[in-house]
Amino acid sequence: MGNKLLNKEIQNYINANLKTDLHSLLLKKSPFPKVSMHEIVQQIKGKQVAERKFPFLLKEGILFPPQLNLEQSSSEKTALYKSEMLKGNKFIDLTSGFGIDAFYLSQNFDDITLVEQNTELLNIVENNWCILGRKAKFINLKLEDFLNGNQEHFDVIYLDPARRDEQKNKVFLLEDLSPDILEIHEKLLSVSSQVIIKLSPLIDLKYLVSVLPGISRIDVIALKNDVKEVVVLLSSENADKIICNCVNLDSSEPVFSFTFGEEETAESEYSEPENYIYIPNHSILKAGVFNLISQKFALKKLHPNSHLYTSSEKIENFPGRTFEMESVDSKSIKKKGQFNIIAKNYPLKPEEIKKKYGLKDGGDQYLIFTQSKKGKIILKSV
Ligand SMILES: C[S@@+](CC[C@H](N)C(=O)[O-])C[C@H]1O[C@@H](n2cnc3c(N)ncnc32)[C@H](O)[C@@H]1O
Repeated sequence: MGNKLLNKEIQNYINANLKTDLHSLLLKKSPFPKVSMHEIVQQIKGKQVAERKFPFLLKEGILFPPQLNLEQSSSEKTALYKSEMLKGNKFIDLTSGFGIDAFYLSQNFDDITLVEQNTELLNIVENNWCILGRKAKFINLKLEDFLNGNQEHFDVIYLDPARRDEQKNKVFLLEDLSPDILEIHEKLLSVSSQVIIKLSPLIDLKYLVSVLPGISRIDVIALKNDVKEVVVLLSSENADKIICNCVNLDSSEPVFSFTFGEEETAESEYSEPENYIYIPNHSILKAGVFNLISQKFALKKLHPNSHLYTSSEKIENFPGRTFEMESVDSKSIKKKGQFNIIAKNYPLKPEEIKKKYGLKDGGDQYLIFTQSKKGKIILKSV
């Protein structure tokens, strides 16, 4: 398939149609007898996704797989973050997919192996790595078969299990992933002392820690405050504590690291709102580190379920958003006023609040509807 699509005329046609409506393009007849419009559109879609997710692939000679494989791939930014934790001699990605993670994670390794069950996908990756000047062994096998015949030891094993079942629905339990990590984790740790697994941002961390033995580190990775990945490091050495790192990429917020034991013993002080209000970023909220964050930054919490914090003096380097605010009476909110509305632990959703008070969305003023220990409150930015 690769050679046909890399023909200069076809590539010119693809590049000339990067902004064309793909639905109408699909209805047209392909101008090339040996290549279908479907194949052309796949390449155009690939380039469109690459612009946003992996711009390093916007090069002549690169081929793109079907949309599902593009969706399943990590972004360049999250892959780069993960690569910072790794170095060694032998690296293997057992679920290579489109190879974005493998490309970045293996950059500090000399000996790289990629395993993928999907032949067409692996052929595309092999073509692209050749264009990018990266050497690797490309193994087209089910990873279970590869592991059964394998005698080698690796410094790092990486897995990013497929998260869709046969009906292409998204799945979030470990046993529903392909491969089933619970079934192969002992085998993995016998082949490498470091196993890194990327999981869905929707996975429950308490569930994860309770079912998967050998976890020594968990990274909750957000990009622009949107949690993209939960990454787990399994070690063959018994870790007595699990370190959890909460990261918000593309922000100036610092990484917040803690152990689950620290969170269990931490206690929050409570207070009515003071001058500053803090909303932790989504990686912190995902990790459930609600009390330690208040203790470490000397902040008081408004309510056990609000996850909003307050201080009289401004605290720098908080991993989240900081607002200077005052409490207001609902009667003082002007109809048709323009606000960004945040509702946390409040009976109404922002849409319902907007309707009730006749407010418009946007602008640079904020209204937070929440609860303190004394009851419902409204905060307005000053
Ligand atoms: C989520 S994708 C990996 C994406 C990749 N990390 C990237 O950044 O492009 C998962 C891949 O694992 C492959 N896979 C799932 N189960 C497998 C198995 N048992 N053996 C080999 N490959 C498998 C799927 O075919 C799919 O391409």
